[in-house]
Amino acid sequence: MVDIAVIPGDGIGNEIIPGVCNIIKNINDDINFYYYDISSNRYLKNNITITDNEISELKNYKAILFGAIGDFRVKPGIMEQNVILRLRKDLDLYLNVRPVSSLPKISKYNNVDLTIYRENKEDFYALIDGDLNANKTFTHRDNLNNYEINISGNANDEIHYNMGVLSRKNITRFFKKVFDLIYMGRAVIADKANAISMYSFWREIAMNESRNYEINTSFEYADSLAYNLILDPKKYTNIIAPNLYGDILSDMTSALVGSLGYAPSANIGDKTAMFEPVHGSAPDIANHNIANPVASILSGAMMLEYLDYREDSKLIRNCLFKMLRNDILPVESGGTFGTKEFMDYINKITVEARI
Ligand code: IPM
Ligand code: MG
Repeated sequence: MVDIAVIPGDGIGNEIIPGVCNIIKNINDDINFYYYDISSNRYLKNNITITDNEISELKNYKAILFGAIGDFRVKPGIMEQNVILRLRKDLDLYLNVRPVSSLPKISKYNNVDLTIYRENKEDFYALIDGDLNANKTFTHRDNLNNYEINISGNANDEIHYNMGVLSRKNITRFFKKVFDLIYMGRAVIADKANAISMYSFWREIAMNESRNYEINTSFEYADSLAYNLILDPKKYTNIIAPNLYGDILSDMTSALVGSLGYAPSANIGDKTAMFEPVHGSAPDIANHNIANPVASILSGAMMLEYLDYREDSKLIRNCLFKMLRNDILPVESGGTFGTKEFMDYINKITVEARI
């Protein structure tokens, strides 16, 4: 038996994720799902985002399936930083894999087949931030690298800072893991080494690590990469990006093959992994049975592959592609299949195909 933690979260995450667990459960009864109520509703009731106890429990699962987090009633940043970013940080999920592939009947461009490998803990996401105030020293500790940063200033809260950091240890293991996954072929590495010096450090580490692999690597500034990606996405197969550029480029590339509704992702560390659709909680459309469940279904398929249930993963993908080819489309793409009807349909055909 394999134990998986499930965090449906908020909005459409709540509407879709239990359905995805059903689809998986019906073709593979090795998997046990344990639900966690980590949500804005709970926060509004009890003022709890996520507890230390939940973090230590979540570390012990083989994998986590995550929906989305965020709610109109909560100030932007509270749930995102305290839940999703904290999970990536505390569970040491240092690589975010975001595949982007053309889908039948959905995509403007055919033959797009690329993956974005996004660094997932550092850069401007290191959560090193504060107000500069002489009476308040901000201290940041990093356990991986064993350093401490102390910041204070006399701007009396008139200046707010966010520090971007990259550490040799983290970026080295990141490139190692990415290159291990890519194994051979081409990779374009994004940065802004022309403007921001920490990306020269990033480049140097990338170059050093790439010497151990048969991968044809090249570098492109993130702005020019965005431009070239829109002009000709087929030119790219693997894109490796620092955290913030990876975040932006992955929303952009998902538009090339459909929408965010079709973009899955995997947050990967050495001990566990967390799978989540790239889209957010979309509270404006939640519970209207119109949310697109494909990104979460594909995230579930990525999780099965990670757990080495390759046949089950393939089965879900094949059934999904067959549906799209046969014009069984989500409402978002002009189809008539609501969130529930779409998931019921794939549930039915995956079970039939399994027998
Ligand atoms: C993503 C999201 C998150 C991020 C937000 C919700 C903090 O946009 O997973 O891409 O910026 O990483
Ligand atoms: Mg994003």
